[in-house]
Parts: sequence; structure tokens; C-alpha cells
Amino acid sequence: MIRPKNEKEIEAMRQAGALANHVLLETAKSIQPGVTTEEIDQIAAKCIEGLGAKSAFIGYKGYPCYTCISVNEEVVHGIAGSRRIDVGDIISLDVGVVYGGFIGDNALTVAAGGCTVEKQALMDVTETSLQKGISQAVVGNRVSDISRAIQEYVEANGMSVVREFVGHGVGRSMHEEPQIPNYVDGGSSPRLKAGMTIAIEPMVNLGAPEVQILQDGWTVITRDQKPSAHFEHTVLVTDGEPEILTCATRMVLKDTERS
Ligand code: MF3
Ligand code: CO
Repeated sequence: MIRPKNEKEIEAMRQAGALANHVLLETAKSIQPGVTTEEIDQIAAKCIEGLGAKSAFIGYKGYPCYTCISVNEEVVHGIAGSRRIDVGDIISLDVGVVYGGFIGDNALTVAAGGCTVEKQALMDVTETSLQKGISQAVVGNRVSDISRAIQEYVEANGMSVVREFVGHGVGRSMHEEPQIPNYVDGGSSPRLKAGMTIAIEPMVNLGAPEVQILQDGWTVITRDQKPSAHFEHTVLVTDGEPEILTCATRMVLKDTERS
């Protein structure tokens, strides 16, 4: 059963979402040629700590970092380390925070010091596909309407969606029902209800959709080693327009943590 959230839970999700987006945007500023991925992860860790929040990722099924940092052909779940970012790399940064018992989950892909036209198109198509998916997150639609909007836009642009990893309900737990695939499989699909909070996260490949997991047990890469991009927002289904919860401009800290 998918239980929609009540007003109090939604307010807590707004807070967690705002913080998650603040950390994402602040950390993204540090993504420049010459920086290592573990430096980026540490910047995020400090930012999260400074807000009185916690990373939703570290320790999750043994995941070793505060964020996921995936470079070029890495799709998602890239592990921070001594790798130095190079000019022209595209970096997917995924940030999830826990605050007040609730989770905000979001991601974006940026280029370090400019990139090829192809990579820029990949990032643009992925970000727009997320917007197309979000616009379908309305009462009366099914999850598959979100999936279809993403897949159709991506494939119309000659790119492909990853099948093995999907978006998800999010709340007190990072992965709640329902799953939000970025493709349509023709099976039954749940109806969206007001109060549902979902993470929509297209992972888009410039080449073929197939992926594989590296020896580290986490890092997902494209089989053809062509680049991949990832954008994610946590979204609230309402009786009106979908509300993007991972929106830093709505950040309100608890009084004790202000100053
Ligand atoms: N946004 C990703 C997800 O929804 C982050 C999970 S990463 C993990 O699955 F490392 F914590 F697993
Ligand atoms: Co997610």
C-alpha cells in the first residue's frame, strides 16, 4: 500500500527537500577541473553537517560516501576517490539528506570547464526529460504517465533510458513504494494520489541503454562507455500542480539551528 503523507509529514519533507537542494547546489559550485571527487564529497559532507542534517546515503547498504559522484560513462552510484576532474568531464552529483526524520533526494549533472556539444545535449535532454516527467505527476495519472513522458522525450532525441535503476517513493525511508521507472513496460501501474512524495530521476545514456556494475560493487557504468547524465527531484503530488520539494529557496531552518 502506498500511504500518502499528511500535512505535517509534507512540511517535514519540504524542509528536507530544501536542504538537500541547497547542499546539491552549493556542492556543485566546487566541481571544477583539478578537484578530486573525494574533495567534492567532503565539501558536501561539511555542508550537510553545517545544516544539522545527515547524508541519507552513507552507510546505506554499506555505501561508503556522503554523495554519489559519477563521471562521464559512470551512470550513478559513483564512489568518491582520488580521481581528478578534467576539463570536459561531465559529473553527476546525487545528494540525499535526512532532516527531521525525512529524506530529500536530488541530483544534477554539470560539466567541468565546458564540454562537447554532444555532452551538453545529453545533459539538456536529461534535465528536460525530468521536467516532462514532473509535469505528469498529477492526481488521476498513473506512474506510467511519468515514465512515458521521460522515455518518449529521450528516445525522440536519439538517446536511451537506463532500465536497471528507477525513481522511487521517498519519505522516512529513501526507497518507498512506488517504483518510478524511466520507461514503460506495459504492466499495471499505480495511480498517483495527492500527498504522495516521489523521487523522479531519469538516467539517460548518449549511446545504448545497457549498463554494468564495476568491481567496487557500486559504480554503474554504460556498457558502451559512452557518457550518461542524471537529474533528480523529490516531488509532491498535489490536487493542483506538482510541487518540487527539492527547492533550496524554501529552506527554513529550525530556530535552534539558525544563526
Ligand atoms: N538517488 C539514489 C537513489 O535513489 C541514491 C542512492 S545511492 C546509495 O537510489 F548509495 F545510497 F545507494
Ligand atoms: Co533517488
